[in-house]
Amino acid sequence: MAIAVVLALLVIGSVLFNFLTPWTFTPIASNWGSIDAMIIITLAVTGIVTLAIAVFLIYVLVKYRTRPGLKAHYQPENKKLEWWLIGLSSLGIIGMLAPGLVVYNDYVTVPEEAHEFEAVGTQWRWMFRYPGDDGEFGTSEPRFINGQNPLGLNPNDPKGQDDRIILANELYVPEGRPVKALLRSVDVLHNFFIPQIRAKMDLVPGIVSWFWFTPTVKGRYEILCAELCGVGHYNMRGHMVIAEQEEFETWLASKPTFAESLTMGTMGGLIEQGKALAEGQGCVACHSVDGSPSLAPTWLDIFGRETTLADGSEIVVDEAYFRESITDPRAKLVAGFPPVMIAYDFSEEQLDALVAYARSLGADSETTEPEAATDATEDSSGASDGAISLAERGEQVASQNACSGCHSVDGTEVIGPTWKDLYGSERTFTDGTTTMADEAYLRESILNPAAKIVEGFQPVMPAVSLTEEQVDALVAYAKANSSLSLEGE
Ligand code: CUA
Repeated sequence: MAIAVVLALLVIGSVLFNFLTPWTFTPIASNWGSIDAMIIITLAVTGIVTLAIAVFLIYVLVKYRTRPGLKAHYQPENKKLEWWLIGLSSLGIIGMLAPGLVVYNDYVTVPEEAHEFEAVGTQWRWMFRYPGDDGEFGTSEPRFINGQNPLGLNPNDPKGQDDRIILANELYVPEGRPVKALLRSVDVLHNFFIPQIRAKMDLVPGIVSWFWFTPTVKGRYEILCAELCGVGHYNMRGHMVIAEQEEFETWLASKPTFAESLTMGTMGGLIEQGKALAEGQGCVACHSVDGSPSLAPTWLDIFGRETTLADGSEIVVDEAYFRESITDPRAKLVAGFPPVMIAYDFSEEQLDALVAYARSLGADSETTEPEAATDATEDSSGASDGAISLAERGEQVASQNACSGCHSVDGTEVIGPTWKDLYGSERTFTDGTTTMADEAYLRESILNPAAKIVEGFQPVMPAVSLTEEQVDALVAYAKANSSLSLEGE
């Protein structure tokens, strides 16, 4: 009986949730209302079947509950009932699938008047191409793919010369005109998905898949990759802007043609080129330019940075190292980062541009000698030496070295003691001794964590290999998170 009540509550709850749910369709911005209808039909069919089964179960649980004198019967077969069930299931399945076939047929039967764009997926960004004035795409082949020609367009195909190349993650389409999306992948499976368009299709290496839609509501919509394609999958996003025809044309005209893109090395300022390249090639998906932690070392103030490599050796990042890390990323891995970057086949000019761009990030990184940078951080009062303060640098170090995985700064105790109000507090150790947490103690705890274990914590912290500058920064960061202070400071 209790089970029957629980089941009834589950059924009522599910039905109510379906109508009261905060998760509804986003407003639609294309012609594909029929896809919404499909989803509703599927929901209705599966919902009705689920309800019917639940109600039947409740009925059986109540009617045949255990009572004195009631005995179960064994009935091996009921042909009539089986035919009914087969018939009803078939009807339900046909009801769900048949309209889908009609809608799918519409979805890939492109109207005559549709114009085209190509979306190319690569780990982990989107590139786009529009046909040029001739209205036709040039051919492409994997063997033509290189740093200058990431789409692999055939340089000898006259039809491809005027194709417009968009290496940034943004695409414009004009409102109200049917458009055919051609989808291509240069590496692994991806999936082009814009929720508001209701459109979604896999990009399969080696074939070109397609669908069409008519954009109906102006706006900027997110393009998502909906197929797990590697560690950067979550970051494989782009945008599609639905604009007026004129706005679209202006945007398209501002994009380089394929022929122009091949000679880009001689156009524009080096920093601008480097920025375009870094964004277009997806470098910035993993390397932040503002110091925020990501999958890979940030480019902010990268030159002159003292870095510990995975093999324990120390280097100072210079141009040679920066270049090598692009063309042969596994040669010298930075400690604490996974070896996931692929080798890039850039021209010398492109490397120059990237170096120029990376140099342009962060204050006076052009002139600052690494030694000077370390000296400038002697003043641990948190004063800024241009780009960021020592405490902010400490926050980066903490995050890059995963300190924050175990040490909170908001007072929550995770695996290790919180850093909030740690500096200046009295610590009690497992051997019963106590000490004031001063700078020397903080340093020791970072470099030799096993020396003194705080009472109540496990001796699990690994000794972290950091440079003096990084330890300074961490200490400053810990100090900044403490409201206590020590005498004589
Ligand atoms: Cu591409 Cu996920």
